[in-house]
Amino acid sequence: MNTSAHPSGAPDQIALSVVVPTFNEVRNVAEVVNKLSTALVGISWEVIFVDDASPDGTADAVRELARKDRRVRLISRHNRRGLSSAVVEGGLAAASDVVAVMDGDLQHDETILPKLYEKVASGEASIASASRFLAEEKPSGLSSETRVKISNTGIRLANRLFNLDLSDPLTGFFAFRRDVLLRALPNLSEIGFKILLDLIAASQPRPKVVEVPFMFRERLHGESKLDMGVLYEFFLFFIEKKISRFLPLPARFISFAMINCVGIFLHMIVFIFAERLFGASFATSQITATMVALTFNYSANNAITYNDRRLRGSDFYLGFVIFALLCSVGIFANIGVATMLHDQYTNVIDLAPAMAGALVTVVWNYVATQAFVWGR
Ligand code: GDD
Ligand code: MN
Repeated sequence: MNTSAHPSGAPDQIALSVVVPTFNEVRNVAEVVNKLSTALVGISWEVIFVDDASPDGTADAVRELARKDRRVRLISRHNRRGLSSAVVEGGLAAASDVVAVMDGDLQHDETILPKLYEKVASGEASIASASRFLAEEKPSGLSSETRVKISNTGIRLANRLFNLDLSDPLTGFFAFRRDVLLRALPNLSEIGFKILLDLIAASQPRPKVVEVPFMFRERLHGESKLDMGVLYEFFLFFIEKKISRFLPLPARFISFAMINCVGIFLHMIVFIFAERLFGASFATSQITATMVALTFNYSANNAITYNDRRLRGSDFYLGFVIFALLCSVGIFANIGVATMLHDQYTNVIDLAPAMAGALVTVVWNYVATQAFVWGR
């Protein structure tokens, strides 16, 4: 019996898997498949869409395409989020030795895919990356002034910190040998920063990278999901790669603690405003300040520290309630530890027990909320 659906009866050897991460790209996926069909004539390929439960129904649209075209595959994720981890999952599921990553919004010029593929398949390089900044024309996809600035800062930092010389180390469009990913896997960032940089930084020895110019197009439908948060993620990535070696704390904890510090600062400002400027009572001022700090801590950690597990909609509010409850336990722990130490060592200055109490609180809050707010 012939179990293969291939007309010749022989199963297809797939030469190139194209991984396309998607979040709310329902209007673009069909066109992506069309464009790949035209661009990849002569190469046997598959496309793996990795969707993170897009509310616009992207996954259903991909399923529909896959029914008609066996080269289309879907990974539909429900508990995870994040561009970087989506690319990793797609790459691991790939059937071929050469994998390419491309955005699902048609900003990446698919016609250079054969060139990227060729560079890797021929062994000329382990990674072939498509650079937005080698083309003669200026990239039209970098619409705003801010984006250009973020981009330039990021590129300079990346090259300096990781000792690279790439015109576009933060590009999301590149091809690589699948075993590069397999070998780098244990060292990939926990934060999930720009996957190309992450892949290079996690590879020992350094893989050979060649760059191919392309023209970064404008987005037709939908909107970009990247913003200033990227720079902060970069900062965390830096901490993880360079600082954690000397100070073995998880980057997420450092982020959590830093946001807490800003929260304390905010608390003091709100308190002073309420009490001095508006003449509120001590209790009212303290409660207002606590609420503001709590809301800030929760939202900031949700958006940044746990960017990849970000809670939205009703989950966001439920998470806030649990966060507030857990943090009140933290406050009791704080007072408890501080009083105990204070009573036991009456000769020690008060600052030390107070600091110890605060430290216990941060650690408790981090561990508890990681498990019960962002770990569900
Ligand atoms: N699965 C998944 N999960 N996909 C995501 C997520 C997510 O959390 N966030 C974004 N995507 C998908 C988008 O649907 C799109 O296909 C692709 O990832 C890029 O997202 P955009 O929001 O369009 O990013 P951009 O255009 O601002 O930046 C892109 O291009 C830059 C230049 O090439 C990204 O690829 C950057 O990494 C890249 O530097
Ligand atoms: Mn885009």
